[in-house]
Amino acid sequence: MYGLVNRAIEQLVVSLKGDSAWERVCQRAGWPDGGFVAMQTYDDAVTYRLVGAVSEELGLPPDAVLRAFGEYWILYTAEEGYGSMLTMCGSDLLSFLHGMNQMHARIEASLPEIRPPSFEVHELDAQTFALVYESTREGLAPMVEGLITGLAKRFGQRVDIRLTAPRDASTPHDRFLVQILA
Ligand code: HEM
Repeated sequence: MYGLVNRAIEQLVVSLKGDSAWERVCQRAGWPDGGFVAMQTYDDAVTYRLVGAVSEELGLPPDAVLRAFGEYWILYTAEEGYGSMLTMCGSDLLSFLHGMNQMHARIEASLPEIRPPSFEVHELDAQTFALVYESTREGLAPMVEGLITGLAKRFGQRVDIRLTAPRDASTPHDRFLVQILA
């Protein structure tokens, strides 16, 4: 993944626990010199190792780290030069998610090696929709939960999101049920 992702993990850890915690995370993850270049790509394994190391450092399960990271990603990208792209993409959760695939496609202009996920939205009623998430990567469903929660907060909304059908060998996508609460 692009270093932008690993740098966001760094910022999250530093904001919660300070520089020394991030140094320990890098040691544990086998990245002793620390530091990532935002526009450079790194092996996905590095990102997964960082998540594992953050989980140990914070004493939280990896899923909880991914959820927190997903939520943080919305704040981080808004600060790192992608604020106008987020603004352009919609001002409520549902319209934003309808445009998500196009948004990642636009990002491809500046990050040409990105392998973005894809999303499908199936509206069930005015407050409820199913979200289908497909990715070349495994294990990131909790990050999607955090992303949706973070997006909803950005729009002053609250949501309940549940993974109703996890991906498996026969189905290459995760399916969530999302309910907009306010
Ligand atoms: C403007 C803000 C955003 C930027 C700049 C951005 C960019 C990226 C980048 C660089 C990656 C790493 C993938 C790679 O390097 O191959 C990524 C992954 C991902 N993005 Fe975005 N993204 C943004 C917003 C969002 C939002 C709002 C969502 C939520 C619905 C989202 C969902 C994801 C997911 C789930 C992944 C994990 C990779 C995967 O599933 O395979 N992104 N994004």
